[in-house]
Amino acid sequence: MRTDVAIIGAGPAGLLLAHLLAADGVESVVVEARSAEYVAARIRAGILEHSTVDLLRQVGLATRLQAEGDEHRGIYLQWPHERHHIDFVDLVGRSVWVYGQTEVQKDLMAAHAATGQQIHYEASDVALHDIGSTSPSVTFRGSDGRAHRVEAIAVAGCDGSHGPSRTAAPSAGRQTWERAYPYSWLGVLADVAPSTDELIYAWHSDGFAMHSMRSATVSRLYLQVPGGTSVDQWSDDRIWDALATRLGHGQGGWRLTPGPITSRSVLPMRSRVQAPMRLGRLFLAGDAAHIVPPTGAKGLNLAVSDVALLAPALVALVRHGNGTLADAYSETALRRVWRATHFSWWMTTMLHIGTDPFDAQLQLSQLRWVAGSAAGATGLAENYAGLPIRY
Ligand code: FAD
Ligand code: PHB
Repeated sequence: MRTDVAIIGAGPAGLLLAHLLAADGVESVVVEARSAEYVAARIRAGILEHSTVDLLRQVGLATRLQAEGDEHRGIYLQWPHERHHIDFVDLVGRSVWVYGQTEVQKDLMAAHAATGQQIHYEASDVALHDIGSTSPSVTFRGSDGRAHRVEAIAVAGCDGSHGPSRTAAPSAGRQTWERAYPYSWLGVLADVAPSTDELIYAWHSDGFAMHSMRSATVSRLYLQVPGGTSVDQWSDDRIWDALATRLGHGQGGWRLTPGPITSRSVLPMRSRVQAPMRLGRLFLAGDAAHIVPPTGAKGLNLAVSDVALLAPALVALVRHGNGTLADAYSETALRRVWRATHFSWWMTTMLHIGTDPFDAQLQLSQLRWVAGSAAGATGLAENYAGLPIRY
């Protein structure tokens, strides 16, 4: 097959890129390792930044988001006996939206199907070729076992942290920075109305906890657990007891209502940034280029902002043979990536309990400053609600 852009991965980065390219008359073929059902059902992010929502609106992908999503003015930051609302709208004039990544994914899949562009689910043996040339290609085995080759003008590596794109270039041409955190998140989805109107991020000496949500009847909750924890070590009762303690059940009359847990998983916490994000005719976007710990709610939003920068660069390259934006892509995207990487690290290290009691006192001091000072709160609000795409 021949196309303009071969896209590897049908997550948010890959499908949004296909949508933005199609809007400008650029054709693509998407190659995805998993089945459509699997991709649509993965439970992941829950918060959309202001600029993500603006972009989805501009490209006609926000109808259901506006009808079913929930706009939040800010978050609660808490530690034992104190809960403070950080109001992003008051502080920086921007809000965030609660709308699950599963819903974003479904909207993207429906929009992609409507354009009639090609997508190959359940592809295996996906490999990239000749990315250093002007005619790169992607080969794979289709779900029927047949071998395929997609020849393109450019390849977009949107295949997350385990896909083949990020290691497709010779290692001498790329640099990676990493940080592994010694804790994980145990995340649960529960069929119970949220006990809070906006997200609660809680520091507690037993470990961090967070109360998020997916709808008026579904809550999403997280607990800091040691790295290497298995979900079997946590019964439903143990999970609700820990959440009640860490989130402050009973304090100031606040109550956490437990309910049936429908899904649970352990999520390791790490940061990784790879540069450059462009290697010849291969362009990396989203988790393929960078991973952040989820405490800053940035992963999905970074995938969106990468693609918002990449799409016009590929349109100029494919339609006009103009490589100026393509040449600038990596540097432009990485400025925002590093800002989000710092913010995610900052939120993570401010809220998670380590082994050093000195660190715990510094965390509490920082939390009091962030919640109590306009300068501190504005810094958090500006980063959490999201910086402009061309930061
Ligand atoms: P992915 O969604 O990982 O998509 C990559 C796609 O490539 C996948 O469909 C995969 O199957 C496919 N693929 C992999 N290998 C191959 C191959 N060999 N060939 C073809 N296809 C392949 N982010 C936020 O912004 N806010 C949050 O609140 C948030 N919370 C999170 C909570 C959890 C529990 C988790 C796990 C993540 C969270 N994130 C959050 C991060 C966010 O989910 C990711 O950053 C986001 O999915 C990145 O999108 P992507 O398209 O780059 O990668
Ligand atoms: C979520 O709702 O899954 C969620 C929200 C905020 C985060 C991380 C995850 O920081």
